[in-house]
Amino acid sequence: MVTTPPPGAAGASGGVGPAASVQFGQYPPARQTILHLSDTHLLAGNVPLGGRYDTAANLRRTLVAVERLGIRPDAIVFTGDLTDLGEPAAYRALRAEIDPVARRLGAPVIWVAGNHDERPAMRRELLDRDPTEEPVTGVWDLGGLRLIALDTTVPGWHHGDLDDEQLAWLGAELASPAPHGTLLAMHHPPLPSHIPLFDILELRDQSRLARVIAGTDVRGILAGHLHYSTSGTFAGIPVSVAAATCYTMDLARPAAEVNGMDAGQSFHLVHVYDDTITHAVVPVVDAETGEYFSAAWVERMAALTPAERLEAFSRKPKR
Ligand SMILES: [Fe+2]
Ligand SMILES: [Fe+2]
Repeated sequence: MVTTPPPGAAGASGGVGPAASVQFGQYPPARQTILHLSDTHLLAGNVPLGGRYDTAANLRRTLVAVERLGIRPDAIVFTGDLTDLGEPAAYRALRAEIDPVARRLGAPVIWVAGNHDERPAMRRELLDRDPTEEPVTGVWDLGGLRLIALDTTVPGWHHGDLDDEQLAWLGAELASPAPHGTLLAMHHPPLPSHIPLFDILELRDQSRLARVIAGTDVRGILAGHLHYSTSGTFAGIPVSVAAATCYTMDLARPAAEVNGMDAGQSFHLVHVYDDTITHAVVPVVDAETGEYFSAAWVERMAALTPAERLEAFSRKPKR
């Protein structure tokens, strides 16, 4: 049932970018930085999704934004619905887009299965494994942080579930703690949604998962599926849902009338600290920004004493 990580993935730790190593506040730099993307929904031949969305172009825009960050992430996690119909050619197209980026960033790619995926094609085309219906799961050591990919998909259905065998495997993995705790990555979030259609397609029997992770070192859950960014807690554990790269749900509508739109795409920049984990939403937009802050500005601040920095940046001008 359990697949092993792709070659070179276990033990990977890419560190964080130079800017993140500057510390002006109370927290030391994050131990791990993870890119969390979701719901690419590629189609073979790049047929427009739903006749409307250019999913390949939207993924490329997202990847440009990813590389613009200038970081060396510890992992790139895709939380499912990698393709829309599970077509082998769509997985090959996805891999052709992601592999060069991952190589340049020096980070392992963690593929999580979603309800739109098909396990046999996903296993063969993305993981170079036998094309079976076995759940796509794995365990990574990201510099002492354990990341466990679960497979919440149910072949032939769009709702989510975790069977006894996968839950037993998860329990066995979690029996021994990792140095910096554990993150779970899964497609169907164990959270409610205010949108009726997602209630029908939710992860079923969530209390069983809650029992398995109770009292373990699980510090957070990364998920997708909803096509909008949200967060909550599940059995006391923070859950962070990344929106989609393909299209997102227009939440500025009554819940029963929420539909997709070709806007609002984003991904998450996850920083793992000793005492907390933050999930920053990175918008994929082309917008003009001010140019006040820069690496040179940070350098100038770094040259000051803490008191001088407060004076230079925190002091309000006298009226
Ligand atoms: Fe999706
Ligand atoms: Fe989904």
